[in-house]
Amino acid sequence: MKEINDNSVKSPTSRSAEWFGKSDKMGFVHRSWLRNQGYPDDYFQGKPVIGICNTWSELTPCNGHLRDFAEVVKKGVMEAGGFPLEFPVTSLGETIMRPTTMLFRNLAAMDTEETIRANPLDGVVLLTGCDKTTPSTLMGACSVDLPTIVVPGGPMLNGRFKGECLGSGSFNWMVKEKTLVENYTAEDILEAEIGVARSAGHCMTMGTASTMACMVEALGLTLPGAAAIPAVDARKKLMAQLSGRRIVQMVKENMKLSKILNREAFENAIVVNAAIGGSTNFIVHLLAIAGRIGVELKLDDFDAVGSKIPLLVNLKPSGKYLMEDFFYAGGLPVVINELKNHLHNHAITVNGLTLGENNSKPVCYDRKVITTIDEPLQTNAGIAVLKGNLCEQGAVIKPSAATVELMKHGGRAVVFETMEDYHARIDDPDLDIDADCVIVLKNVGPVGYPGMPEVGNVDLPEKLLRKGIKDMIRISDGRMSGTAAGTVVLHVAPESAVGGTLALVKDGDRIELDVEQRRLHLDVSEEELQKRRVSWKAPAPVAKRGYVRIYIEHVQQAHLGADLDLLQGGSGSEVTRDLH
Ligand code: FES
Repeated sequence: MKEINDNSVKSPTSRSAEWFGKSDKMGFVHRSWLRNQGYPDDYFQGKPVIGICNTWSELTPCNGHLRDFAEVVKKGVMEAGGFPLEFPVTSLGETIMRPTTMLFRNLAAMDTEETIRANPLDGVVLLTGCDKTTPSTLMGACSVDLPTIVVPGGPMLNGRFKGECLGSGSFNWMVKEKTLVENYTAEDILEAEIGVARSAGHCMTMGTASTMACMVEALGLTLPGAAAIPAVDARKKLMAQLSGRRIVQMVKENMKLSKILNREAFENAIVVNAAIGGSTNFIVHLLAIAGRIGVELKLDDFDAVGSKIPLLVNLKPSGKYLMEDFFYAGGLPVVINELKNHLHNHAITVNGLTLGENNSKPVCYDRKVITTIDEPLQTNAGIAVLKGNLCEQGAVIKPSAATVELMKHGGRAVVFETMEDYHARIDDPDLDIDADCVIVLKNVGPVGYPGMPEVGNVDLPEKLLRKGIKDMIRISDGRMSGTAAGTVVLHVAPESAVGGTLALVKDGDRIELDVEQRRLHLDVSEEELQKRRVSWKAPAPVAKRGYVRIYIEHVQQAHLGADLDLLQGGSGSEVTRDLH
């Protein structure tokens, strides 16, 4: 074993050299302990150090394969002359964590940010998959602003059961309906469990995870075509290896996140999200990412930039097919090429080429899955931002997932004060409700639940499902899973727990929704609302200590992205004080 001496150590030229490049006591300390892994001298002599930020966890099933993927990325990093160091961050398993992963998105972002900044990293690879693992790690990385590339873990293979193609997530929302209307037995449901989760990977519908993968590709943060490749396809590993090679070059080019993530990149992501029928969760995550990197983005931009964009992708929950079909049809490059007249094609991406250059010649192999811009599945498919006295700061609806007849509708409110209240009464045969009513769900916002869970698309009452009713207007301050559909008004801001008008709605009030006019109106006089406001009492805080207390005291409302106010912006990558 050869000791590092003064002559073998380069003077600091990179961020990692601030740790490894010094010939003093601290240089010795930084290198010596790391060398217990057996790294040779030259690893500390100017090689770009690449952090592989891994969201692998056995508690995050969608990311269960990322432990292996990290090794593939490392191979690419080493081939390109870099020094890879893998590190874990808080992982968020959508189907397991209580009360909701969204409560912890900002915690995972803090973890990612501080871990990147505190360590001798020159560049970062984000290994992501399940819904929140993409925005959380990207938010954290933005606040440090090093060269960063994203490797999305990829969707599962198509679900199959009883000869039917099943979409993960989307099937969950049908369990009640399938049991009641199609007489599915308990054994059927048990068998469907594994039929809908056939391989490694995240949900294979155009749910939030697929939406997030497409978002990072549209932002220019992945190699082209990365989003749709199934997790178990060999080309996914190839993509991971090439990303490992590329991040080393990005460090040499000093291609930081802020050089890619400008306003135009964000507008591109909004346009693409509309065309793929992406999740409404995209809104809160993109707003939060923009807030971290310092790009001005407002809720109204989603409507102004995206609402006139046509739907080109025929994927569940808005359509028929699944991510595996999307990949075989050509994936996101086909969509980006179809949208070229709506995009900023000169936006730079991680491989040094522009979005237009990367996606100039894709071939579509199945027009049933990806249509042309001239024959879209639906016009004006982007997210609509609603305004009105029921949502002074806005609310959102996904028209591509809604029932056309309900997009202009007025009805009597049936109010549930909490999720517990909803569960206790929704299937009560005596509940005074019909298909024209509007279901109002309170206290499921960022502060109220806390964490703004995906409950906005609550199941309809059993007695109406039995009559064949498939959709009703539902309004809440919560979110909706990207795998769900329906005429569901979400993200009402201000939320009810902080005294938004939603808190004042009573059973029997008339509510009017007019999506074309972007109007959500509570038909109650201002005088009466004022009376109700005076007698309204805020619910007791849901936590007295710990992270949840920090969260409820600092979380911003949905129209701002639901990040913590004290996490907005970034602190850069500099750390001025050493260990000593
Ligand atoms: Fe992880 Fe759907 S539960 S992506």
